[in-house]
Amino acid sequence: MPELLFPDPELTDGVVTLRAWRPSDHAQRFAGFSDPLCQRFSWGSSEPFTEQHQLSWAGGGEESARLRGEAIGFAIVDAGDPGRVWGGASIYDIAVAEGRAAVGYWLAGHARGRGSATRAVRLLTRWAFDDLAVARLELTCGPDNSASQQVAERSGFTREGLLRSHLPFQGGRRDSVLFSLLPTDPASR
Ligand SMILES: CC(C)(COP(=O)(O)OP(=O)(O)OC[C@H]1O[C@@H](n2cnc3c(N)ncnc32)[C@H](O)[C@@H]1OP(=O)(O)O)[C@@H](O)C(=O)NCCC(=O)NCCS
Repeated sequence: MPELLFPDPELTDGVVTLRAWRPSDHAQRFAGFSDPLCQRFSWGSSEPFTEQHQLSWAGGGEESARLRGEAIGFAIVDAGDPGRVWGGASIYDIAVAEGRAAVGYWLAGHARGRGSATRAVRLLTRWAFDDLAVARLELTCGPDNSASQQVAERSGFTREGLLRSHLPFQGGRRDSVLFSLLPTDPASR
């Protein structure tokens, strides 16, 4: 898969903007992702999350994945003040030959409870269908992650079932609830 290009103009609905991460986002990104809920549900390693993990991902890993066409990560920012980071979202596990990809997201504690994750997912899913020509988007989350399951449902995804022992997670393995969205689903139009 060729390099993935960031959308130009940036994806926005006037409340939330999705843009490429900037080096100046470092402190807000680290503080936001260090939040206990992000650590509980989005940090799969058994090692504690440190600034070094973020530096290595932001300083190379993330960009390599984009250049290989495997994943693309965005900062979720305030559309009225794009220096203010609310969280992160990505399209990942992109399998071009199968026309399939996954969507992921997290919000800093201060940005929750006002629909920003749902807005970000809607922007990203439309872009993935229109520009990446994806035929199926998947969203997986822990069975006990009810906030994330509600984001999936509010964004129009269909719950398909439970993937048993789906992922290595925090030193063990985790089941995941699987959701999907197709370009023909009502929420995609
Ligand atoms: C998953 C996560 C991003 C959800 O955050 P969230 O703030 O609940 O989700 P949204 O931004 O879509 O906001 C929805 C909330 O805002 C409210 N809301 C207010 N205005 C809204 C609007 N215009 N549209 C939608 N929801 C709105 C909703 O009622 C809901 O509140 P409720 O949970 O009290 O019912 C957050 O819990 C998180 O960061 N968790 C840790 C990381 C994680 O689990 N990531 C997903 C891994 S699969």
